[in-house]
Amino acid sequence: MFNRTRRLRNSQVLRNMVKNVDFSMDNLIYPLFIEEGTNVKVEISSMEGQYRLSLDNLYDELKELKELGVKSLLLFGIPLKKDPVGSEAYNDKGIVQEGIRFIKKHFPEFFIVTDVCLCEYTSHGHCGVLDGERVVNDETLKLLDKITLSHAKAGADMIAPSDMMDGRIQSMRRILDENNFENLPIMSYSIKYASAYYGPFRDAADSAPSFGDRKTYQMDFRNSKDYLIEVENDLAEGADIIMVKPGMPYLDVVKAVSDVISNPVAVYNVSGEYSMVKAAAKNGWIDEERIVMENMYAMRRAGADIIITYHAKDIARWIKRGI
Ligand code: PBG
Ligand code: ZN
Repeated sequence: MFNRTRRLRNSQVLRNMVKNVDFSMDNLIYPLFIEEGTNVKVEISSMEGQYRLSLDNLYDELKELKELGVKSLLLFGIPLKKDPVGSEAYNDKGIVQEGIRFIKKHFPEFFIVTDVCLCEYTSHGHCGVLDGERVVNDETLKLLDKITLSHAKAGADMIAPSDMMDGRIQSMRRILDENNFENLPIMSYSIKYASAYYGPFRDAADSAPSFGDRKTYQMDFRNSKDYLIEVENDLAEGADIIMVKPGMPYLDVVKAVSDVISNPVAVYNVSGEYSMVKAAAKNGWIDEERIVMENMYAMRRAGADIIITYHAKDIARWIKRGI
């Protein structure tokens, strides 16, 4: 006697009937790189299909995204000037702040999430201010608060801190609440590993550290226990959504976290994951559409409510065409 589990796979109708993981455009956030200046539309060499755009080139892109059914954007800014304290990040006329206003003016229906960090704005490329070669935690918090408030004032719908300083959620929540932004949610990059998968992003955003690495603040992937404390801390400090990053190699973590918390879980399908799929697809070694959709379902199955992915535009086209 044995179980015939194949019975439930007999037909497409039955398979569709018993499937219990869903996926739609509602789950996706699309990252967008906006650059200060004019007439910029540069394809990121390691991320085929992704561009750095100046605001004068943003309108057509937004129109296309809207038509495709992309609903939410994650903004990254590339400033003209960088300095040791990343001043452009909290300039009220900075690229992200102006970008938010531009999008809200022309396409108010987009839900705008902003990445809050200093690394795209500091001359040394680290995510905080330095004392010698050390990234100082508490000094950095003050600057992150300023970024947060300036994004909120410009009209951001959600703030997503990616810096990995301790205490930042508490600090940002307080500054938001004190300024009448008590209803603005925070999606925390709570579990963010020091990962080589961010390589292509750092080309894109010109944000690689000029010395050392990020291992004193981003997490060590050789530890299988230390991630829950990050979640506990962030929830206690007031985070609304917990993010795990990168995505595909860390689905064990996504699953473990989503099993124990009732807040939504987001996963960031990062640049390196995207570039690998694109490169293999270009070579004809894999079926891009099937691989990408399989990855999306894998992340959903692990418990991700939200997926941040550079594939969002391609997925939207496939969904429109019918898969
Ligand atoms: C900024 C930031 C990074 C990413 C998101 N926010 C880069 C980093 O931490 O070095 C990575 C995103 C990606 O690789 O797609 N701190
Ligand atoms: Zn950073």
